[in-house]
Amino acid sequence: MDGISRILYDQATIASAVKRVGAIISEEYRDKNPLLIGVLKGSFIFMADLVRVLDIPCEMEFMVAKSYGQRTQSSGVVEILKDINTDINGRDVIIIEDILDTANTLFSITEVLKARNPASIKICVFLDKNIERKVPVTADYKCFDIENEFVVGYGLDYAEKYRNLPYLGVLGV
Ligand code: IMP
Ligand code: MG
Repeated sequence: MDGISRILYDQATIASAVKRVGAIISEEYRDKNPLLIGVLKGSFIFMADLVRVLDIPCEMEFMVAKSYGQRTQSSGVVEILKDINTDINGRDVIIIEDILDTANTLFSITEVLKARNPASIKICVFLDKNIERKVPVTADYKCFDIENEFVVGYGLDYAEKYRNLPYLGVLGV
């Protein structure tokens, strides 16, 4: 594919990582009917694959958020462009995101959702980027740790392109 300098993870490698994470979540949420909240757009492929390897009852929601970054650790600046339609009071929530980079987006989303009194909130990401973060967010479940380079495919974009690649690649010449 034009613009991709290297394939990081191919389809088979991704599928087995998703299966591994799915098995852990199935085990931990066996009788909890978790609500999986996908953060659009980046998580759509990961979410679709993940829910199909869960063998427990679960529900799904999606939200769209725009983060404006963080000035301090406590002031989340996020605009919810599309909110969920489910009351999460008392629910076990798992946020599904494509990648943890600065974590500003997930920090803000988590703060917004926490205020609605869920029983629990955990974070599941496809990728965890190895960078120093200013906000206290860690992934509870992840498929891969990656180095600090720009990756595309499997839902992740560069200028809205490449989301449809079935593998994860590094952008470059
Ligand atoms: P944050 O910096 O953790 O708030 O990440 C915000 C969003 O930036 C992620 O959900 C991704 O959509 C996007 N992003 C961060 N790093 C990458 C990357 O390497 N490739 C593609 N998108 C990325
Ligand atoms: Mg993006």
